[in-house]
Amino acid sequence: MKNVFERALASALMELLSSCDSAPEWSVAEMLALLEHPPDAALGDYAFPCFQLARFFRKAPPAIAAELAEQWGNSDVSAHGVEQVQATGPYLNFTISPGVLADAILPAIAKGHSFDAPQVAARERVMIEFSQPNTHKGFHVGHLRNVALGDALCRIFRYNGYEVVGANYIGDVGTHIAKCLWYYESFNQDPPPEQQRGAWLGELYTKATLLLEDAPVEQRKTYQQEVREILKKLEGGDPKLDATWQETRQWSLDDFAEIYEWLGVHFDCVFFESEVDDEGKEIVLQGEQDGVFQLSEGAIGIDLEEELGFFLLLKSDGTTLYSTKDLALAKHKFDQFGIDRSIYVVGAEQTLHFKQVFATLRRMGYEQAELCHHLPYALVMLPEGKMSSRAGNVILFSQLRQKIMDSLRTQHFQARKGEWPDEEIEETCRKVAVAALKYGMLAQDPAKQIVFSMEDWLKTEGDTGTYLVYAYVRICSIVRQLGIEPSADADCSLLCHPNEKALSRRLLDFNRAVWSAGEQFKPSLLAHALYGLARDFSRAYTTCSVKHAKTEALQHARLLLFHGVAETLKQGLHLLGITPPERL
Ligand code: ARG
Repeated sequence: MKNVFERALASALMELLSSCDSAPEWSVAEMLALLEHPPDAALGDYAFPCFQLARFFRKAPPAIAAELAEQWGNSDVSAHGVEQVQATGPYLNFTISPGVLADAILPAIAKGHSFDAPQVAARERVMIEFSQPNTHKGFHVGHLRNVALGDALCRIFRYNGYEVVGANYIGDVGTHIAKCLWYYESFNQDPPPEQQRGAWLGELYTKATLLLEDAPVEQRKTYQQEVREILKKLEGGDPKLDATWQETRQWSLDDFAEIYEWLGVHFDCVFFESEVDDEGKEIVLQGEQDGVFQLSEGAIGIDLEEELGFFLLLKSDGTTLYSTKDLALAKHKFDQFGIDRSIYVVGAEQTLHFKQVFATLRRMGYEQAELCHHLPYALVMLPEGKMSSRAGNVILFSQLRQKIMDSLRTQHFQARKGEWPDEEIEETCRKVAVAALKYGMLAQDPAKQIVFSMEDWLKTEGDTGTYLVYAYVRICSIVRQLGIEPSADADCSLLCHPNEKALSRRLLDFNRAVWSAGEQFKPSLLAHALYGLARDFSRAYTTCSVKHAKTEALQHARLLLFHGVAETLKQGLHLLGITPPERL
């Protein structure tokens, strides 16, 4: 993804080198790949490192840079917008004229042309599987990281020109269900609550786990046997238990649907573990007959050797495993959706599992296994350490939402009571809460742990989603207060203050940030770019007032610039799944 300045520079550099003896014959693409951004804007906008030229010219890189700078000055080589060429150490640095830079991007934003997605080379169909909660279990803060990440990637990939299928895969069968229903049937005395029954089931599941863990050895064995019986009955289709499963499963599904709606997250398709259960079993039995899988003490698995070991695919009592279902799921994805790439957003603790699944698919002869990609992400921690049901410090989504909304209502929006309609206050609180939570989850590199802190994420200053929505609203109101429509015809050549240039530059680089965020699976790169844009705006706003601009022409140019900042911020936030309110 290269812009017009980089392409022009690469051609000009080729021309410059072609006049030197013993210069390498590099292509434009090779030239482009070498171009860098200087770390400090004062050095210029683009840098050409001369290290690789040393072996051709047999000189030290700084000497080459100095000679090339001089030669550029003496020749009639030029590149679009370049107003200064300078050697700094081993680098040849180029400065683009601020006016030309502004002109390359601001009118396009005003006309809505700049947000055309950068197209991928060939239109690829990508499935991004994310969220995947388990019914009968609590939905907690850790699950939120997955939802934020998966949803942002869907939006980013779509923007970048891919055809995206956002998929959910809900865990509605397996041991955890048996455990929960075991407790529900044998120990629970309470009637289910009117609302949030799914969250309540999650509590029963936790109670079941603790009861099992705390039981004396003999007792525990009996309990475990009872849970196994239930699992067996569930898999065998026992009518009474099946009815209970249906009813309770729906409680969880209703809760999930409500959470997704609050978060503004949508799925194009939803798979259920219960749907792929039988098929998984058939696949494994067939694989055993075909000699791809092996029998081992009554169970079936596959020997993946060395690092990956023996991967169990069916238990000796004939019941299915997590792995059994993943084989059938993958087959569905390939056969029904004709996808080119299959991405699984799942916690890093399942890395081995996915290596085993993909290796098994390969052994089964699925070429598509090469296109499967597990995107791991690290844990969400609390300041006091890991969340654990035993310690009783698991932050459930339902509680978190209650707390964050209460805090916003009483601290940020108390003053609006009576002034704004109640629905607007509620909707604004929701938008700010979603911004704070999603941004907090996305601003960190997926591979790094997050320490969750609601207080920090609600701060209106610093690297928070709250700050970004406040910045957006502030810019919009500055633009609105002027009472002038931004026009694409404003004279951009007047925007030559370094703080104005910094903003034009950020806007020009926006699409690249989105592109990298997608290709590297790191929405954090986009979050970072947006934070930089908002901060640069604060700086420009104090030095380059739009209200008190010296001339009308300058005022119009600044208006166009600030309008471009607001639009880009809005677009970027949207790609992170955040909708800023229009007033605060
Ligand atoms: N529901 C599973 C869990 O909570 C995650 C499912 C991940 N996706 C998959 N295809 N295995 O651990």
